[in-house]
Formats: sequence, structure tokens, C-alpha cells
Amino acid sequence: MKREFSEKPELITEQWPGELNSFSWQDFVTAIPSPLFVITGWKSNGRENACLQSWSAFTGEGGEFYCIIGNINANGHAYKSLKETGCCVLNFPSHDVYDKCHRTIDNNQWETDEITDSGLTAEKAVKVNAPRIAECFLNIECELVWEHPLGSGSGVTAALHAVNICMDSERYDERKKGRYGKTGYMYNINSPRNPDTGEAEPEALGALEVYH
Ligand SMILES: Cc1cc2nc3c(=O)[nH]c(=O)nc-3n(C[C@H](O)[C@H](O)[C@H](O)COP(=O)(O)O)c2cc1C
Repeated sequence: MKREFSEKPELITEQWPGELNSFSWQDFVTAIPSPLFVITGWKSNGRENACLQSWSAFTGEGGEFYCIIGNINANGHAYKSLKETGCCVLNFPSHDVYDKCHRTIDNNQWETDEITDSGLTAEKAVKVNAPRIAECFLNIECELVWEHPLGSGSGVTAALHAVNICMDSERYDERKKGRYGKTGYMYNINSPRNPDTGEAEPEALGALEVYH
């Protein structure tokens, strides 16, 4: 039976203070998975910045490819770096390097080289003024085109124009490592809830299974 939800179900409550401000109850009811990647750029003190990111879409037309960053925190370093430099790199990890990418969240201090100090290798992007993560199988170098507040909070939606793609040849060959399955693109699954009971599943990572 399908059910309608236009108001927050009473049994959906915060698992930690502020959770329903940082996210929305609809996030938890729908629990739509989205690709995981790391935005990298330079902080204004010359240090590497890295920000794990999700809730985004990738599309193009007429030879132009865009990354629509759904919700970047306007109070974070990644947004500041993007505004200052007008560019960034989107780095896509596979599961074997995810822990190091996640470490960038603990290594988020202003004076930290967040890529290097998390055990990853920073290399210069080819077309934009930003570092990129060598261990990620795909790096999309981007320039900022436009931004708009997402809603009434600190989230910003931004359109990035891809100017260079660097991809591991074993990943774009589906007969070798390929892009999907447990060794390919990673997905963010943000704590799905049952609106009838309030029961919450833990945050999880997902992989894409291809129908053959
Ligand atoms: C799975 C996962 C997904 C995340 N997605 C986003 C996101 O879409 N937007 C965002 O602003 N922060 C997101 N974060 C939080 C940032 O990665 C984190 O706050 C980071 O340290 C901010 O870095 P910055 O100060 O360089 O911006 C996510 C964190 C995790 C663990």
C-alpha cells in the first residue's frame, strides 16, 4: 500500500541534536542513494582542502558536462575555496580508499594539508588551480558557473562545468575493473527510516548492481 507524506511523521525523531536541521525528514523517508566523491581545492593559506560530498547530479548536453552540487555547506572550507579560486576537483574513490577519504573530515583544520595528512597523494590538476587525489579512480576538474541557496539554511547548490576528466583506463574498460559493483562508484545511504515505526537503519555505503 502506498502512503502519502506531506508532514513529518511523528515517529521520525532526531538521532542526534540538530539532525533534522542538517537534513530533512524527507531525506530519511526517501533515503535515495547518491554518489560519493571528495571535493578538493586550495585553502587561501596554500594548504590542501578536501570535503567528502554527496547529494549531487552529473549531466550534460552539446559537449558540455556539468556537476550540480546539491548541497555544499556555505560555512565550510570547500565552499570558501570554491568561491576564492572559482574551481575545484571532484574525486571519486573506490571502497579500498574510502577510509582515507573519510579521514579528511577529522583532518579538517585550517593549517592541515587534508589530502596528504589523510594518507592520500595530492597531485596538481591539469586544467584548474586545485590539487586532486591520485588514488581516486576518477577526477573531474571543474570551474564554478553559478550558485543558488538551496533553501533557508546554509546549504548552497552550485553548477560546476567540467573542463578535464582524468580516469583510470582499467575503470572505463568494463571488461577489466569497470565502474560499478563493489569496487566501483560508491553511494551514500543516509540512515533510512520507517515512518510507521520510526525505526532507523544505520548510515551505510552502497554499490551499484547492474541488471544484465
Ligand atoms: C557520507 C558523507 C557525505 C557528506 N556529504 C556532504 C555534502 O553533500 N555536503 C556537505 O557540505 N558536506 C557533506 N559532508 C560533510 C563534510 O564532508 C564535512 O563536514 C567536511 O569536513 C567539510 O569540509 P570543508 O570544511 O572542507 O568544507 C558529508 C560527510 C559524509 C561522511
